[in-house]
Amino acid sequence: MTILVTGCAGFIGSNFVHAWLESTTENIVNVDKLTYAGNLSNLESALNDPRHVFVHADMADREVMDRLLSIHRPRAVINFAAESHVDRSIHAPIDFIQTNVLGTYHVLEAVRHYWLHLDDPEHASATLKKSDFRYIQISTDEVFGTLDPDEPGFNESHLFEPNSPYSASKASSDHLVRAWHHTYGLPVLTTHCSNNYGPYHFPEKLIPLVIHNALSGKPLPIYGDGLQVRDWLYVKDHCLAIMRVLEKGQVGETYNIGGCNEKTNLEVVKTICQSLDQLRPLKDKSYSEQITFVKDRPGHDRRYAIDANKIITQLGWRPLESFETGIQKTIEWYLAHPEWVSAITSGSYRDWVHQQYA
Ligand code: NAD
Ligand code: DAU
Repeated sequence: MTILVTGCAGFIGSNFVHAWLESTTENIVNVDKLTYAGNLSNLESALNDPRHVFVHADMADREVMDRLLSIHRPRAVINFAAESHVDRSIHAPIDFIQTNVLGTYHVLEAVRHYWLHLDDPEHASATLKKSDFRYIQISTDEVFGTLDPDEPGFNESHLFEPNSPYSASKASSDHLVRAWHHTYGLPVLTTHCSNNYGPYHFPEKLIPLVIHNALSGKPLPIYGDGLQVRDWLYVKDHCLAIMRVLEKGQVGETYNIGGCNEKTNLEVVKTICQSLDQLRPLKDKSYSEQITFVKDRPGHDRRYAIDANKIITQLGWRPLESFETGIQKTIEWYLAHPEWVSAITSGSYRDWVHQQYA
């Protein structure tokens, strides 16, 4: 059997491909446009694995998607592809509407037409039935907006109150997915995950940016007062949760995924500095001296937290890593892969850093 995924040359998707090849015997077809965030070096060994087929294409290209679906006949499609960086969405929202809203629409339409004909006599197969097909939309906790300090974490029935162009575009795509289920019967599931971290994380996001800047002797930029709270989940735990949703999730349901690791940004940055002080000590000073408070992000959400009770009790998933073990593995991975970081941080990455932090 085969699954088809989009956007799996990016951070979470590439980790998903590795986890899929490691823990299943099934094939995986990976459609990625290779934007600035997509990188074939994230896929390393997977590119030589005959069970992984990489296709350089835009998920919004209906002709390509129709062809891939009809050739590979996947039992599931998982849509990871997105523009994913909140700060970039503030500078260029149109890219987010284009990819996250229109891109998802095109994928849904291609998938709907493929799924509709799965039981037709000319396509019918003993192993793949229309009723067994699944579409999973990878969404975010940011669609729920922001929480006050004492509020309980977001559960699946929390209102959608997106506050950034990124989260508004993700909320829009979630609504399309829901509508394709209710109107056309497409067997969909949606996941809302909190902040991920781990290997292959593009260094425009807080954790890899801080590791990279610390080692390069650059300022560690903290937006505003640094007391915003995020709920951190090690990326492999997210990938395992998605596999669990694919195997056991109920069609039409949404599942919130989180690490039960609420930390302020300042705590996260200080933890990274302490760990680097041990692993790569500087002479007579701590990396924490590089911490620099900078202008806050416009519309910055104060706190995210996930109530993961549904996926824990109904699907039996729970995170294997604590923040302490996950962050240690992550820092060690970045220290062991300087060539990955330097390839990523050349070229257009520098233009982004200049635009954002100048
Ligand atoms: P990423 O930015 O690292 O990767 C996105 C990938 O999508 C890239 O490989 C890019 O080339 C590809 N892509 C973009 N437009 C495409 C298109 N039109 N067609 C095909 N491929 C395209 O993102 P990520 O951090 O890996 O996030 C993956 C998904 O998970 C996103 O949907 C994001 O909203 C969601 N999510 C991310 C986090 C997080 O902490 N990073 C948390 C929760 C949910
Ligand atoms: O919550 C899930 C979301 O997590 C995903 O949907 C997004 O795709 C993903 O990018 C992430 O969004 P955030 O905005 O939370 O992640 P980011 O790493 O950009 O920022 C984390 C926090 O750190 C946030 O409060 C902003 C702050 N920050 C970020 C950067 C880049 C800083 O203080 N300084 C920085 O330089």
